[in-house]
Order: sequence, then C-alpha cells, then structure tokens
Amino acid sequence: MTALSVSTSSAASLRADALVVGVAKGPKGITVAPGAEAVAEAFGGKLAEVLTTLGASGGEGEAVKVPSPAGLKAPLVLAVGLGEAGDGYSEETLRRAAGVAARTLAGTRKVALALPAESADDTGAVALGALLGAYAYGTYKSNGAGKEPVGEFVVLTTRKGSKDAKAAIEHATAVGEEMNRARDLINTPPNDLNPKIFATIVQAAGKEHGLKVEVLDEKALAKGGFGGILGVGVGSENPPRLVKVAYTHPKAKATLAFVGKGITYDSGGISLKPAGHNETMKCDMSGAAAVFAAVVAAKRLGLAVNVTGWLALAENMPSGSATRPGDVLRMYGGKTVEVLNTDAEGRLVLADAIVRAGEENPDVIVDVATLTGAMVLALGNRTFGVMSNSDELRETLHATAQEAGEASWPMPLPADLRKGMTESSIADLANMGERMGGGLVAGLFLKEFVAEGTDWAHLDIAGPAFHEGAPYGYTPKGGTASGVRTLVRFAEQTAAGAPGTPGAKA
Ligand code: BES
Ligand code: MN
Ligand code: ZN
Repeated sequence: MTALSVSTSSAASLRADALVVGVAKGPKGITVAPGAEAVAEAFGGKLAEVLTTLGASGGEGEAVKVPSPAGLKAPLVLAVGLGEAGDGYSEETLRRAAGVAARTLAGTRKVALALPAESADDTGAVALGALLGAYAYGTYKSNGAGKEPVGEFVVLTTRKGSKDAKAAIEHATAVGEEMNRARDLINTPPNDLNPKIFATIVQAAGKEHGLKVEVLDEKALAKGGFGGILGVGVGSENPPRLVKVAYTHPKAKATLAFVGKGITYDSGGISLKPAGHNETMKCDMSGAAAVFAAVVAAKRLGLAVNVTGWLALAENMPSGSATRPGDVLRMYGGKTVEVLNTDAEGRLVLADAIVRAGEENPDVIVDVATLTGAMVLALGNRTFGVMSNSDELRETLHATAQEAGEASWPMPLPADLRKGMTESSIADLANMGERMGGGLVAGLFLKEFVAEGTDWAHLDIAGPAFHEGAPYGYTPKGGTASGVRTLVRFAEQTAAGAPGTPGAKA
C-alpha cells in the first residue's frame, strides 16, 4: 500500500527517487509554481526554459520529466501542469496534479511532492490526489496492474507548525484508502462479488474497525417482509442481503442514515438489457460501496456523529424464478408496487432500505445510487444529480459536494411527474412512470417511501460512478468511489454543527 507523510524539508535536500513540481501557463509562457523555488534555483533559474524546450506548456494534465541538475538529491524532476497561472490553485487543481504525478511515476519507490501546498487544506488535497492517483486494480492480471504503484509520497509544505498539515495527511489517508477500497469492490467482477460475499466483507471490516454490522439474509428478509429486495434478488442463484453497518460516537448530536444501492450485477432481469448496456453493470453496487466506505471513514476520523449505513444488496438476473414485468411486490412497510420493468430494480431495493432506515428515526436519510441512465443523459459522465424533499438539504449537499471536490447538480422532483407512476391499475405504485425526466421519476418513486417529516436526499451517481475513458487527474479507469467524499464531508459538517446540517439543529 502507498504510504503518505508530510515534511517541511527543502525540496533540494530531501532524498527521493523523483521530485514533483507544479508549472502553470503564465502570460509570457510557463511559470514555475510556489513550492518549487529550490528546484528552480538548482536549474540556475532555467527550469521554465528547459521545460519549454521539452514542449511543456503548463496545461492541466501535462507531465514532463527532466533529469535533475547537481544540487538536487532526487535524480528526476517531474513537472505537472496546473493550468492557467493564478494567485493560488484550487484544491481540485492540486488533487488532479498530484494524481497525474502518481500515475506518471508508477514504478517509482519514493516521490516527493513540491507542489504549491501552503495551507493544511492544500497539503491534504495534494496527499489525497496522490493516493487516489496511485490506485491500480491488478487483481486479475497475471503480472499485476503493470508497474507497481508509488510506494511512498512525501508531501512538502512550507508551513511552519506542521501539526495541521499532519492532521490533513491523516485525513487524506483515511478518505483515500477507503475510496480505494470502494474502487476495489466496484472493480471486482460480479462472479466474485455477490451479495453474500459483499456482506461478509462488511462484517470483516466491522470487526477490524469496531463497527456494528447486522446482516439480513434471504430468510430474514422474507420473515421481515422485504418484498422489494427479495423481488429483485429472487431470479438469481445468489440470494440478496440487507446489511446495516453502524458507527456511533458518544458525543454525537445527530444521526445520519446513508442508504446505498448494491446491485452486484444488473442484467436488467426479464426486461433484459441489450448487449452494449450490460458490460459495466458490475458497477451497479457503487452506491453501497460508497456508503460502506463513508461509514468506515467516519469511524477512522472519529467524527462526533452517528452514521448508519444500509446496503441493499441483490443480483438482478433473469430466470424461471425471476420477478416478471406485471408482478406486484409487497414492499417493506406494506406499500404495493407493480413491476412494469424489471430493469428499474434499484428503486425497489432502495425503497425497502429507506423504509427500514426511517424506522430508526435518523435526522437525515441520504441515498446513493447508480439509479438511472436518464441522469447520465442529463448531466453527463462526471456529475451526479442531487434531489431532495428539502430545498435546504439539497442545497447543502450540492455545496458539500463542491467543497469536497465532487461535481454535482441540484435536480427537481416535479409533482407532475408523480402521476404516471401512481397510475398503476392494480397496485399503489408502478416502478415506472413517464419516460421523459426518468431520473426525476426515479427520485419521486423513492420519495414515496420516506416517512413524513424526515429529511431525505438522493444522489444519482449513474454517470460518475464508473469511468470508462482514459484515466485523468486522480480518476482511474473503472470504479471511481463517487459520492464518498460528499458523504464524509457531510458527516464532518454535521459533527461540526455547520448550518444546513442536522448538527446545527441539535
Ligand atoms: N443500473 C441502471 C442505471 C444505470 C445506467 C447505471 C447506466 C449506470 C449506467 C438502472 O437499474 C436501470 O437499468 N435503469 C433504467 C430504468 C428504466 C428501466 C426506467 C434506465 O435508466 O434505463
Ligand atoms: Mn436496471
Ligand atoms: Zn440498476
């Protein structure tokens, strides 16, 4: 595993195999960013010139290697682009630049990062970007992921009193490691990650971190009347699970319930997905992976808030025992749902979990789900949608995501779209409504299962959960761990009693 530390040593004197500096696009060509002064000096003030000769521009995503001159302990300098030169650089710019460095330097043992990290927050951003960028999934390759990930990062900071910086590094380590764990789960092929195996992994993590874990297996689900989760899982040889994983803090003033969609494989069921739409559907448990990671991270960070994770795990398969389009399910809590399309399965498992979560009277319920293709059409592959029954909570989560470095956008739950869904001729609800605005219809369906008076929000991460293109910044191919940082930041803000969070009301 990749190690992280912080140091106030000079970039010139630190022993490392490579030294990373930031460069930006200035009005008159490349400028060397703060943090790299000693490096620029070792180049006799000619670093920008050397890099320009090598074709560098300072643009985002760029990485240019230069052999070190005498005077630097590290034999190699890597210049990563920060984009337009400015007074300072955003945390996201720093995370991405560190991620590019981590990917470019795979195979290197020890890397020192001399990026512009002046505040503790910046130091944390560099550390997190490096840890996330170093991620590689090589479990199924005979020779691993290729080059070994960087073994150790030292984040250099000019700050005196590096105590805050140390805390920032610890924070980045907890969040980054849990995000990488979520990525591993998402990337695991569905023949090796079914609901039962997922539940076992959560139990093991619960033991390791001292979290309370309860697993409902198919028998317990039947006894409890979890018709949604059972209805989705009944077509598979791998039966479903509902997992509760709880972190509590003695000084907590608020309790958050996080609910994750955990479809370990979504074939569509009897409403089978066509080829071209099912190859990446192992990612349909990304919401559950995000919730799991967030609960463990909350524990590792010791946040003064209670966080309960609910993972609704099932495999959506077609078979002789599968739910048919036309079947009616009796959901947990008693509502009936006519299943018109078995590919709209996420809302069915989530509905049960939301009702169950609501029974414990949390201050807020936030669900995270790769719920609809419609949300991908609306917002693209890098932005998740935020819906809520509370305008304030929706705005808070949108702002929280932004702060945490995740792209999100508030989406409405228009009352007129509710109609199509409530017009089932034989049940209380249908699991499909109007085609137009499909992502919002799905949100409206979930809203039906939220108890009166409970604040609830829904993050549809279908776009950003799984990255199919070339890696960029700190985002690899495959699972991204979308949603984790937003959930963790929301828990932190709640613990701190920030406005707009339930911690403020307490
Ligand atoms: N898991 C899919 C949504 C999805 C699509 C996730 C693309 C990630 C990438 C979900 O279960 C689904 O199939 N939704 C249907 C709903 C429809 C049948 C109402 C969809 O979006 O097409
Ligand atoms: Mn589906
Ligand atoms: Zn699905």
